[in-house]
Amino acid sequence: MLLALLKQIGRSMVTSSQKTSGLQKPDAQQGTAHILGETEQQFEKPDKLLSSALTEHIEWCTQYDAPSPSGELYSAWSRIPGGHKWHHYFPVYEKVFASLRDKPLRILEIGVYRGSSLKLWRQYFHPKSCIVGIDIDPDCMRFEDAANHVFVRIGSQADSTFLQSVVDEFGKFDVIIDDGSHLSTHTLASFNFLFPSGLKDEAVYLVEDTHTNYWSAWKDSKSSFIDVAKQLVDLMHDHYTDSERVIYFTKGHAGRLPALFVPRITTLIDEIRFFDSIVVFHKKLKPAPPTNEHLSG
Ligand SMILES: C[S@@+](CC[C@H](N)C(=O)[O-])C[C@H]1O[C@@H](n2cnc3c(N)ncnc32)[C@H](O)[C@@H]1O
Repeated sequence: MLLALLKQIGRSMVTSSQKTSGLQKPDAQQGTAHILGETEQQFEKPDKLLSSALTEHIEWCTQYDAPSPSGELYSAWSRIPGGHKWHHYFPVYEKVFASLRDKPLRILEIGVYRGSSLKLWRQYFHPKSCIVGIDIDPDCMRFEDAANHVFVRIGSQADSTFLQSVVDEFGKFDVIIDDGSHLSTHTLASFNFLFPSGLKDEAVYLVEDTHTNYWSAWKDSKSSFIDVAKQLVDLMHDHYTDSERVIYFTKGHAGRLPALFVPRITTLIDEIRFFDSIVVFHKKLKPAPPTNEHLSG
């Protein structure tokens, strides 16, 4: 709803900025359907758009286990008692986190359970990293290990006052991992608060177990978190939907737009990566929209 409102406001502001700058939107593009704010929009089913070579149903054998992952993280995790994780997450973690290991980070994990992943992150990340776990279950306090910079705080991931107190105490985070309740409303509530207010300007937000979005017990709202993540792909491109010509972004061009009015999130998302059951957002403060340049010759 809020995003829809933002979109509406943004659209009317762009129109007024274009009026003041003498720019006209190309007529043919007027009235283009905007994705957010029109969530009832029906998309064609994939089997209408994709070839049968891609959509025909084939047998996927479940009679043998996929090989265990290789790599340092799986090897470390397999020696920590009490954990439960899908094997295919480990190569994803390594892809996303490998480049972040050489410096001390502030890491927040939502969902402590038996403390296994806190131990895993302690072993994997820089030894001076501060690792904070939050959980609704007070029993998780026993996994705090302050001597090794591992802290646990008790509260709900859906409670922004609690989340703010965690940010106030530890500062903004470099990495946030949501492995909490996986209820759609909780995942979204945490994202809504933490992505703008709990993450540093350049940081990673990883949501795992997103397969639960397809299971009715966890989908406690009309739109799942995956639905929202797909819409965020559109929001990452919002500046193109209201200014539909390349010259509006061209360096030195007389027709370049003086300003664009976009939802704030458009200026904050640098990358969205969808994996099986994991979505990763790279936050990066983008002070200006993208520029293109036509080189002579
Ligand atoms: C999947 S387990 C976490 C597993 C842990 N990350 C690991 O890999 O070892 C989920 C945890 O989320 C916690 N949880 C459930 N609802 C929550 C909420 N509203 N806020 C915070 N944590 C919650 C549960 O108590 C449980 O410990």
